[in-house]
Amino acid sequence: MKRLWEVYKDYFDIGAAVNLATIKGSEKLLQTHFNSITAENDMKFVSVHPEENRYTFEAADKLMDFATANGKKMRGHTLVWHNQTTDWVFEGANGQPATREQLLARMKSHIDTVVGRYKGKIYGWDVVNEVIEDKSDIWLRDSRWLQQVGEDFIAKAFQFAHEADPNAVLFYNDYNECNPIKRDKIIKLVQSLQAQDVPIHGIGLQGHWSLKGPSIEDIREAIEKYAATGLQLQVTELDISVFDHEDRRTDLTAPTAEMLEKQAERYDQIFQLFREYKDVITAVTFWGVAEDYTWLDDFPVRGRKNWPFVFDEKHEPKESFYRITDFA
Ligand code: XIL
Repeated sequence: MKRLWEVYKDYFDIGAAVNLATIKGSEKLLQTHFNSITAENDMKFVSVHPEENRYTFEAADKLMDFATANGKKMRGHTLVWHNQTTDWVFEGANGQPATREQLLARMKSHIDTVVGRYKGKIYGWDVVNEVIEDKSDIWLRDSRWLQQVGEDFIAKAFQFAHEADPNAVLFYNDYNECNPIKRDKIIKLVQSLQAQDVPIHGIGLQGHWSLKGPSIEDIREAIEKYAATGLQLQVTELDISVFDHEDRRTDLTAPTAEMLEKQAERYDQIFQLFREYKDVITAVTFWGVAEDYTWLDDFPVRGRKNWPFVFDEKHEPKESFYRITDFA
C-alpha cells in the first residue's frame, strides 16, 4: 500500500492531530502515513497553564517526544484563543477583571514559556485562533482578550511569539474560512497586521468541511485570495463530515454506501485542488487519525458517530484514501 506522506512529499506535508490515546492506538498509521503532527488539545492554554504559576507539560512533552522519536515534524496549536483558556487568565484583584497590562503580561509569559520550551523543535505555531466573528456585520469575535486588551492583542501575540522563537512560522488560524464574507474579514486582518510589520507568516485554513460544502469553487477562490497576501497556507484541521450542518440524524451505526462514495469524490476533488496549489500550501493536517476517534463523534448531536477521515474504525484505508493516493 502507498504511504500517504510519501505520495505527497513533492507537494506538502501530511499531518494528523493527536492526543495521548490516539498516539497509543494509532502508532502504525502515524508512522506509515503522516510526517507531521499537531496536539489536538495538549498544548492549549488550559492544558499547559492551569494556574498562574503552574505549567503542566507532561502530555505535551510526550507528544513532542513521539514526534522526535519518529522523525515527524511538529506544529504548535494554539497560543491565544477564546476557548480552552482558564478563567484565572482574565481575572484581576478583588474580583475585578484583569487590566490590559496584567493580561498582556500574562500572555507574554505564557507565550515565552510555551514557545520557548519547544524552540527549534516545533517549527510553527497557530498563534491566534478564531478571532474573526462569523456574523457578517461584526468584525471581531467578542472575547475577554478583546474586551480587556483591545484589538491589538492579536498583534501583540504575534510579536511575543516571534520574540520567543524568531525562526518559528507564525499562523493566523480560523474556520468557516471559505465563506466569502468571513474570508474577506480574515484577509483584512492579515493585511492590517502586515501593514504594521507584525511577524505573521502563514494562514491556517481549518478545513472542517462536509459532503455539501464549501464548494470547490469557494475553496479555490479562498486559496487564491489568501495566497495573494503573499503568506504560505496550511490546511490545519481537515475533516469531511458525512453530515451536513443541518442534518441531526442519530440513527446510523455505519456510513451509507452513498455517503462513502460522495465523500471519496469530495476528497478526490479537494486534494486535486490542493495539489494545484502546492507552491502556496505547505501542509495539510487531518484533525485526527482514524475513525475509531474523532472530535465530531457526538457533535453537534449527542449519540452519533461521524466518519470524516480516509482511514476507518479498524484503521483500514477507505475509498477516499485510494482516490487521494491514486492520481499519479
Ligand atoms: C477541539 C478538539 O478536537 C476537541 O477534542 C476539544 O474538546 C475542543 O477542541 N477548532 C480548533 C481546535 O482550533 O482546537 C478544536 O479542537 C476544533 C475547532
